[in-house]
Amino acid sequence: MRIWITGAGGRLGGRLGDILSGSHDTVGMDSNDLDVTDFAAVKAFAHDTRPDVIIHAAAWTDVDGCANDPDRAVAVNGFGAQHVALAAAAVGAALVYISTNEVFDGESRQPYREYDPTHPVNAYGYSKWVGERAVMTLHPRHYIVRTSWVFAHGGKNFVQTMLNAAQAGKPLRVVTNEIACPTYNDDLADAVAALIQTERFGVYHFTNAGACSRWQFARYILNRAGFADTPITPILSHQWQRPSTPPLYTPLANHAGKRIGIALRPWQEAVDAFLEREGLLA
Ligand SMILES: NC(=O)c1ccc[n+]([C@@H]2O[C@H](COP(=O)([O-])OP(=O)(O)OC[C@H]3O[C@@H](n4cnc5c(N)ncnc54)[C@H](OP(=O)(O)O)[C@@H]3O)[C@@H](O)[C@H]2O)c1
Repeated sequence: MRIWITGAGGRLGGRLGDILSGSHDTVGMDSNDLDVTDFAAVKAFAHDTRPDVIIHAAAWTDVDGCANDPDRAVAVNGFGAQHVALAAAAVGAALVYISTNEVFDGESRQPYREYDPTHPVNAYGYSKWVGERAVMTLHPRHYIVRTSWVFAHGGKNFVQTMLNAAQAGKPLRVVTNEIACPTYNDDLADAVAALIQTERFGVYHFTNAGACSRWQFARYILNRAGFADTPITPILSHQWQRPSTPPLYTPLANHAGKRIGIALRPWQEAVDAFLEREGLLA
C-alpha cells in the first residue's frame, strides 16, 4: 500500500513512519513540507502521490496554545482535517483521523464508548471535534481513532516530565481528579497499523487498557523507576491553573477495536515497557 502520513515529524506520525515503511510505500510530510491549512497544496499532493491510505496525525497539539488562539486551533485541527478528508475522497484513499478524549465533556461516570455523544469543553477539544465532523461527513471510508495521554520516546511527555522532576529533586504536585487512560505511543502506532489492514471503517478508542488519575499515573512511574520515596503532593485541578480546562473524567472504552481483535495492553505494562526501553526500570 502507498501510505501518506501527515505530522510525520511528530510523535505518532514518526513512529508510524518507522513501523510502516518496512512493509509499505510510505511518504511522510510535516508542517515544513506541507501545511494542512493550505487546501490547494493538500489536494495537489494527494493527486500527485495517489495514496491508498492517508493517516492524518498532524495537529496543533498544544492545548494551552489552542485555548489562547481558538481560531488557529480550528484552522489547523478542524479545517486541516476537512482539507485532508476532501483530498482523500477525491483520490479514493482510506483516511485515518487521530482524535482525542477531549471531544468528551468529562461529565460521564462510566468510560466513554465510541458512539457516545461528544461535547467538547475546551478549544483544543472543539477543534478536534470539528475535524471529526468534517471527516465523518465528507468521506465514508474513514477510521477515527481517539486516544489520550500519549507518552512517547524522545518527545516531551508526562512520563519524562515526572522523571526529570524527581531526578532534579523538584517538589511534585499532581492532580488527583483528572482521570483518563495513559497510552504508549508505540502500542498506539501498532494498533493503527493493524487497523488500516481491516477496512472496518468507523470510530475507535485506542488507549492502553485501564484508567487512572494523573496522580496515580505519576506515582506508578516513580515507583517503577526507583523513586518510591519521592513524595507527590496530591492537588485538585483548580489548584493547577492553566489556560486550557481539561475534561475531568474521560476514560475511553474500546468496544469496536476488540470486535476486530485490536486491544492495547494495560497501561501499567506499557509504562514498564517504556521505562525498560529507556533503561529506567528499577
Ligand atoms: N499526544 C497526546 O497525548 C494526544 C492525545 C490525544 C490525541 N492526540 C492526537 O494524536 C495525533 C498525533 O499527536 P502527537 O502526539 O504525535 O503530536 P505532535 O508530536 O505534536 O505532532 C503533531 C505534528 O503535526 C504537525 N503539524 C502541526 N501543525 C501542522 C500544519 N498546519 N500542517 C502540517 N502539519 C502540522 C507538527 O509539526 P510541527 O512540529 O512542525 O508544528 C507535528 O509534526 C494528533 O492528531 C493529536 O491531536 C494526541
